Amino acid sequence: MNIIEVSHLVKEYKKIKKERGLRGAVKNLFVQNTETVRAVDDISFSIEKGDIVGYIGPNGAGKSTTVKMLSGIMRPTSGEILIDGISPQKDRKRVVRNLGVVFGQRSQLNWDLRLGETFELLKRIYQIEDKTYTENLGTLNEIFQIDRFIDTPVRQLSLGQRMRGDLVAAMLHSPEVLFLDEPTIGLDVEAKYSVRKFIKEVNQRGKTTIILTTHDLGDIQELCRRVIIINEGAVIEDGSLDELIDKIAPYRHLIIDFYHPVTIPHPHAEIVSVREARSVYRFRKDEITAARLIEDISHTAPIKEVGLEEAKIDDIIRTVYHQRKASVQS
Ligand SMILES: Nc1ncnc2c1ncn2[C@@H]1O[C@H](COP(=O)(O)OP(=O)(O)O)[C@@H](O)[C@H]1O
Ligand SMILES: [Mg+2]
Repeated sequence: MNIIEVSHLVKEYKKIKKERGLRGAVKNLFVQNTETVRAVDDISFSIEKGDIVGYIGPNGAGKSTTVKMLSGIMRPTSGEILIDGISPQKDRKRVVRNLGVVFGQRSQLNWDLRLGETFELLKRIYQIEDKTYTENLGTLNEIFQIDRFIDTPVRQLSLGQRMRGDLVAAMLHSPEVLFLDEPTIGLDVEAKYSVRKFIKEVNQRGKTTIILTTHDLGDIQELCRRVIIINEGAVIEDGSLDELIDKIAPYRHLIIDFYHPVTIPHPHAEIVSVREARSVYRFRKDEITAARLIEDISHTAPIKEVGLEEAKIDDIIRTVYHQRKASVQS
């Protein structure tokens, strides 16, 4: 069952266009020309209940705009959104009760209260029952150990603590759907690790459906089986991460250390570098296996050590972004 359905979503922003130069400055005083920016340009996708989907793309691609429309904060110019069958535009109240949203760049917590007090406030806003509230806070605390700073005023929290607070706040009313916009931005390694752990556990324990926007491809690799890649407001790839890797980079690298400097060609692998006794072979996974390659080469010269390198996800994503740019220019 699809818990999220997005069809032909469009968002246009109106921007005031400023004329340049002195002449322009004078003109700007009298006429205001507006210019339309299509931040989201006909996006459609659906997401199954319980999935964690990575929603990625370069800066300005339209990720945050999509998340804002999905969570009912912003109205689409056109198109339709259904969260568990309900439109956030038509029935925002009902949808909000079933979703949580976190913006890494902007906290939803009340700066002037202690962390625990902001939770109490949310409990009243969402009318969460005492029992549910205590249970949820307990479970979330198990994952995150927030009780260590629950009495600290929000303004005094470190970025990592604040992010943990925001994530807990978003889950207090046990929503079925969670939108995370850059939840690991600016975090150190340890805080990042704990946010990833949180995302995994929340997904597993409650079958929570999660859309995750991030620049950290480590987040994607560790958490998402499916990725939706957008660029310039449009979907350019949508599918499993493994399939994407196979499609963009169907090759691997085999690093072989021989006992002596040698160059041993192979019909199914290309030697991409030779340095002293080390050779790096590039081969296609669908043409030959690493084991076969090692075996063939070892017939010619004894092998001391081998290493295998998969295509790096960063390179793959960069390739996808560039493909789009190239096709737009031509
Ligand atoms: N409030 C706004 N007014 C005008 N333009 C905006 C506004 N918010 C975003 N944009 C523009 O819309 C595009 C998409 O922005 P955004 O959704 O924030 O991208 P992302 O989150 O992928 O970096 C960008 O070109 C951005 O400059
Ligand atoms: Mg953004």
